[in-house]
Amino acid sequence: MLGLNIPIVLGVVAVMLVLRWRKVGMFTWALAWWLALALFLKFGFAVPIPGSVLQIYMGIVTGSLLVYISSSKQRWADATRPVLRLILDPGRRLMLAGVVVLLPAVAALSVWAGLNVPLQAPGFGRTVHPAPPNEVTVHDNAIDLVRGDNPYRHLEHDDPDAFGAHVENGRRVYYENCFYCHGDYMGGDGMFAHALNPIPTNFTDVGVLPNFQESFIFWRVSKGGPGLPEAGGPWDTAMPAWENFLTEEEMWDVVAFLYEFNNYDPRALHDLEGH
Ligand code: HEC
Repeated sequence: MLGLNIPIVLGVVAVMLVLRWRKVGMFTWALAWWLALALFLKFGFAVPIPGSVLQIYMGIVTGSLLVYISSSKQRWADATRPVLRLILDPGRRLMLAGVVVLLPAVAALSVWAGLNVPLQAPGFGRTVHPAPPNEVTVHDNAIDLVRGDNPYRHLEHDDPDAFGAHVENGRRVYYENCFYCHGDYMGGDGMFAHALNPIPTNFTDVGVLPNFQESFIFWRVSKGGPGLPEAGGPWDTAMPAWENFLTEEEMWDVVAFLYEFNNYDPRALHDLEGH
């Protein structure tokens, strides 16, 4: 409720009420407020406040309490009396020694705890696309990944109706096979996506389709995770090798559909050849 951690908030309020009814000295009062606010800020919210922000807030709390305490001679004397007594009273030497040892020890411990964080690999191991080989063999057919193009791409200009039929076939292939992982709208958020690491590629991302020739996408579709080169790994990917289930035409068609659906143009061959 309200994003608050209710037991913590109630605990802090209870301590404040006790302080209100039982007259305590200014020193205890300020210390209790400081600790209560620190506890509240650190543990009182369902969503934790970042450590650096917590430090700023506690700086403000410390400053405010100091301003309050020093706002009258009486309060200042009240607040400092226990400290002076601890330092000056010979009967409290042992306690003083304890405090002198404890304060640096706590500081050292918190520094040690802060440094003692285990190193962890980033959550998403793969942020780049693997480098393709120059050529792959799909269904006994050698395909040049550098100069090869979608064999139906030329129809886009030569015979738009025929091209449209290939795109439609690609739509069928996509919604029969791919949307479980890559999503209804290709956002990489299909129903299986949450169980996968790395997550399925988001094809709406401008960083994916427009950056590649269709032959690259065809390679990834046909060979999937099992076909990744050693240099591209190591990572576990659930992307199947679709050459085991689809014809070559179906794979080119689904590639064309990925581009059509997202309104992206493939990186053209002439971009690569520099003219
Ligand atoms: C079982 C889940 C699953 C299914 C089904 C699936 N994919 Fe994938 N796909 C993935 C995952 C996970 C990745 C990301 C990891 C990787 O690149 O191998 C991926 C990556 C890709 C990539 C690589 C993109 C890049 O930039 O490297 C393409 C292309 C692709 N999928 C197309 C398809 C097509 C087309 C289909 C349907 C014929 C399909 N996928 C079905 C899980 C799946």
